[in-house]
Amino acid sequence: MRISILYSTLLAVASATGIRKRDICIVDSLDDASKDDVPAINAALKECGDTGRVLFPLGKTYNIRSPIDLSPCRACDFQIDGVLRVSSDWEYWKNQEAVFLVHNTTAAVIRSDGSTGLIDGNYYGFARMQLDQLSTPKLFSFKNESYVVLVSSLTVQNVLGSAFYVTNSTGIRIYDVNFANNAAVGVDVDQAKHVYMYNVTLRAENACVRIRPNSSNVQVEQSECHIAGNRNDASGVEFYLLSSGYEWIRNIFVRQTKFARQLNVVSVLTREGNGHRDGQGVAEVFNATFRDIQLDQVKRPARLDEAPNVQMNVSRTVFQGWSGTSLQKTQFECNNAGDMCNWEADAWNITYRS
Ligand SMILES: *[C@@H]1O[C@H](CO)[C@@H](O)[C@H](O)[C@H]1NC(C)=O
Ligand SMILES: *[C@@H]1O[C@H](CO)[C@@H](O)[C@H](O)[C@H]1NC(C)=O
Ligand SMILES: *[C@@H]1O[C@H](CO)[C@@H](O)[C@H](O)[C@H]1NC(C)=O
Ligand SMILES: *[C@@H]1O[C@H](CO)[C@@H](O)[C@H](O)[C@H]1NC(C)=O
Ligand SMILES: *[C@@H]1O[C@H](CO)[C@@H](O)[C@H](O)[C@H]1NC(C)=O
Ligand SMILES: *[C@@H]1O[C@H](CO)[C@@H](O)[C@H](O)[C@H]1NC(C)=O
Ligand SMILES: *[C@@H]1O[C@H](CO)[C@@H](O)[C@H](O)[C@H]1NC(C)=O
Ligand SMILES: *[C@@H]1O[C@H](CO)[C@@H](O)[C@H](O)[C@H]1NC(C)=O
Repeated sequence: MRISILYSTLLAVASATGIRKRDICIVDSLDDASKDDVPAINAALKECGDTGRVLFPLGKTYNIRSPIDLSPCRACDFQIDGVLRVSSDWEYWKNQEAVFLVHNTTAAVIRSDGSTGLIDGNYYGFARMQLDQLSTPKLFSFKNESYVVLVSSLTVQNVLGSAFYVTNSTGIRIYDVNFANNAAVGVDVDQAKHVYMYNVTLRAENACVRIRPNSSNVQVEQSECHIAGNRNDASGVEFYLLSSGYEWIRNIFVRQTKFARQLNVVSVLTREGNGHRDGQGVAEVFNATFRDIQLDQVKRPARLDEAPNVQMNVSRTVFQGWSGTSLQKTQFECNNAGDMCNWEADAWNITYRS
């Protein structure tokens, strides 16, 4: 399986760089919601993060009152078998980038052994409501050229904002992850490449997967996307182009994935970027394939939302082998003259019911 392949790559990296045996740091829990377990976690990462393992045993709960810094992790195994619970302290968290800072991290595995690991975002203690996710901390933030990181066999719950935000990084894999309830955005890809999701059950309010400009090779396989709520613009896979100048999204592949309820399965939207109200913005989507897709009473298979002064160019985009039910039909033509919407549907078997 894929995961074992990654493990062997990891071991190869570990044995190439480390002469010493894998260190194991077992993190103690203070077991007190008013105390922060993160200083001990960050100390364990410093001690064992270079090719070793940081272990959170089953049956223990850790209180997360400040960000966990995974940057010391080099081929490390961050094994969460217990529960990591984020504190109810919105005044603190609202100014933080993320709970898990995965900055410049290489060949890391963040996982549990047997899917027992739970990360409870606790909505950062914020009364549950919709927020602009740009100003909300992320649960995980991958950036600064993180390279080959696997997140697997974990449950996440009570996430406000984006669960996994990936930028300026490559080779990020999210496998066997279950969202127990809705995040605002499940996986948010921004100027990143090779982001793979496999066997992920995504639940979100705004988008299961949002792909921002200059991202490529994003894949979703054998997964599920559930959206509840009443937003007209909620999306399964959203191409979100701001179009300040020239922007592109390339090589997207979604296969054997199920989409359910209040969503547009695929959305392409452009927004005018600052200073480009003169028709100079160009937004390109090139080479996207959605194959063997199952719909369960979705809103629409696809939706275009075109800003007037941005030239949208969708090409080589194929919908193949879709089945199931949708409330509304899909419009394949662009709304704006001058935009190019070149998508094809093949083996299309959707039943429309209102
Ligand atoms: C991340 O990059 C910023 C600059 O882009 C730098 O200041 C910071 O130290 C980097 N962090 C790590 C952990 O590499
Ligand atoms: C990542 O860390 C390495 C040192 O381990 C450093 O040379 C490099 O500049 C860092 N990259 C970024 C983007 O922070
Ligand atoms: C990505 O990295 C480039 C340079 O390496 C930097 O200019 C840009 O601000 C970074 N983007 C984000 C979102 O951090
Ligand atoms: C998919 O992930 C779930 C955990 O969310 C796990 O229990 C299940 O075994 C995985 N299925 C496959 C086929 O790997
Ligand atoms: C995207 O890439 C193009 C070049 O391919 C560059 O001109 C543009 O500034 C980039 N935009 C962003 C938001 O990174
Ligand atoms: C299209 O994207 C797929 C990955 O989804 C890639 O394997 C293929 O090479 C791409 N084709 C082109 C023409 O870029
Ligand atoms: C649209 O994008 C494709 C792929 O990048 C490119 O070959 C084509 O010239 C573009 N068309 C227009 C009208 O910009
Ligand atoms: C289309 O889907 C319906 C059920 O949704 C099924 O009964 C029918 O056989 C399918 N047709 C084709 C050509 O696959």
